[in-house]
Amino acid sequence: MSDTWVIRDKVFTKYLTADDIQSAIRTIASKINQELDGQVPVFIVVLNGAFIFASDLIKKVKIDCEIAFVKLSSYSGMESTGTIKEVIGLDISLKGRTVVVIEDIVDTGLTLHGFLKQINDMEPAAVKVAACLLKPDAFRMKFPIDYLCFSIPNEFVVGYGLDYDGLGRNSSDIYKILNG
Ligand code: IMP
Repeated sequence: MSDTWVIRDKVFTKYLTADDIQSAIRTIASKINQELDGQVPVFIVVLNGAFIFASDLIKKVKIDCEIAFVKLSSYSGMESTGTIKEVIGLDISLKGRTVVVIEDIVDTGLTLHGFLKQINDMEPAAVKVAACLLKPDAFRMKFPIDYLCFSIPNEFVVGYGLDYDGLGRNSSDIYKILNG
């Protein structure tokens, strides 16, 4: 993939390389390995966007763990609606467990806020959040992001699992919009 990427009506430019991303993931994975040792955490991967990040992160987690997948679709095009349409797939008990929610990007935080509320209703022992990207200037919530790779400006990004209208997930690098 070159340094610019045209997807539908938008032009994107390379922003975070695969090496940058893998190195940041190594750092958070080693923090997880230290902090959650002995707890057998349940990783909950938020589909679709987090599938590549979660795969790379979980391969570097060396402690015993379980993995579950959920889908919380609430985003269409480039505007966050902030409403969770549906939660699909959360069919295991979280009671007394250490849960780590894995998200691709936290923008306003509304999507995750709603989901974390539902998880807390399931009486876990502890809930942590792992995210590849955070847009601090857009973030409107207060929950901590315990394991974060990058804080980025409030600009639209694609690649590494993130899409623009369904396209752009298939890249090891992250691109940001040029003509927003
Ligand atoms: P939030 O509820 O505003 O935090 O939005 C979170 C979700 O919006 C993420 O899981 C992504 O699916 C999507 N999203 C937010 N910002 C971007 C972006 O820059 N590129 C692609 N998807 C994004």
